[in-house]
Amino acid sequence: MLNIGIIGVGRIGRVHAESISRLVPEAKIKAIADPLINDDIKKWANSIGIFEIYDDYNKILMDKSIDAVLICSSTDTHSQISLDAIAKKKHVFCEKPIDHDVNKINKVIDALRDSKIKYQVGFNRRFDHNFQAVEDATRNGLIGALNILKITSRDPAPPPISYIKVSGGIFLDMTIHDFDMVRFISKAEPVAVFATGAANVSSEIGMAGDIDTAAVIITLDNGCTAIIDNCRQTTYGYDQRIEAFGSLGQISISNDTNSTAVISNSNGIIGEKPKYFFLDRYTEAYISEIKAFITSIVNDTPVLVNVLDGLKPVLMGIAAQTSLIEKRIVTIKEIENKYYLR
Ligand SMILES: NC(=O)c1ccc[n+]([C@@H]2O[C@H](COP(=O)([O-])OP(=O)(O)OC[C@H]3O[C@@H](n4cnc5c(N)ncnc54)[C@H](O)[C@@H]3O)[C@@H](O)[C@H]2O)c1
Repeated sequence: MLNIGIIGVGRIGRVHAESISRLVPEAKIKAIADPLINDDIKKWANSIGIFEIYDDYNKILMDKSIDAVLICSSTDTHSQISLDAIAKKKHVFCEKPIDHDVNKINKVIDALRDSKIKYQVGFNRRFDHNFQAVEDATRNGLIGALNILKITSRDPAPPPISYIKVSGGIFLDMTIHDFDMVRFISKAEPVAVFATGAANVSSEIGMAGDIDTAAVIITLDNGCTAIIDNCRQTTYGYDQRIEAFGSLGQISISNDTNSTAVISNSNGIIGEKPKYFFLDRYTEAYISEIKAFITSIVNDTPVLVNVLDGLKPVLMGIAAQTSLIEKRIVTIKEIENKYYLR
């Protein structure tokens, strides 16, 4: 039985805590830590069998019986907590992104070098049943050589402006998942990025220096072109679709809905809206990614989303942001050179 500590029990920390306590018999949550612990959190934690509750994550790291930690705190804490956890020889599941700052991610990469520590990054969409079907068909050659990869990723509603201000911008906060999908499905690396967009949904987002509607075109090193479109608001739910087009055909997936019911009457033919947001759409993917992390520790196998998989989408996000501001195509090499990578 593996003992787990969860650092940060906001939205996503609680999702993972509930997955482990209900569905992962190989692991037990021994402790949680969050500076904002209150009676409601204690009550919730007790209800799923967690009784060691701290306001300082170092208490978890000091506990020698804890094998692994899940870092689910705010993004600006991830890299430092990662370094502290690695120093205490804990296996780490770190929510995305590891950091917005490439230099800080590099410190985590250095700390992991030659260690036996499992470090998995929370790119949950790799575990989504629909996206896995696209990856599987593409990898098995069913659509031949990949020519075009189209990703639509639109949220039902924008987050609060306080969140936007510390989010790192749309590309590092939202598109980052799509950048990861591009690499996951194409099995290719990005060469160059062009991004454009505007604050169409909310002028407040624009005043905060961000955009809420974006399109990104990525040239990949296998000749494939990836096209991503994002918006922080739809009228119809969480729109998450991918189409892969290759020399032998194409594969596309549609949104998950609560049912497949279609009502046909004199008004028209009406199906269900997509599931509302990520917690609904990716429920199963969140469970699968945590199970995969636990399995990699128990069986001593490589994690399915490693620290370099955590770095690459950040480089793509920085390239996209640079492209948006400077209105030009930005190569990944340029971003790598800036950080003395390779
Ligand atoms: N993979 C996904 O689909 C997904 C979805 C949501 C959030 N996330 C990521 O997860 C992270 C958390 O997001 P959230 O939506 O749960 O945010 P949240 O604000 O709901 O929760 C974050 C929690 O971390 C706590 N925290 C802050 N500093 C801490 C510290 N030093 N030690 C322990 N706890 C600390 C806060 O008090 C808060 O309770 C973010 O990095 C976000 O990008 C990923």
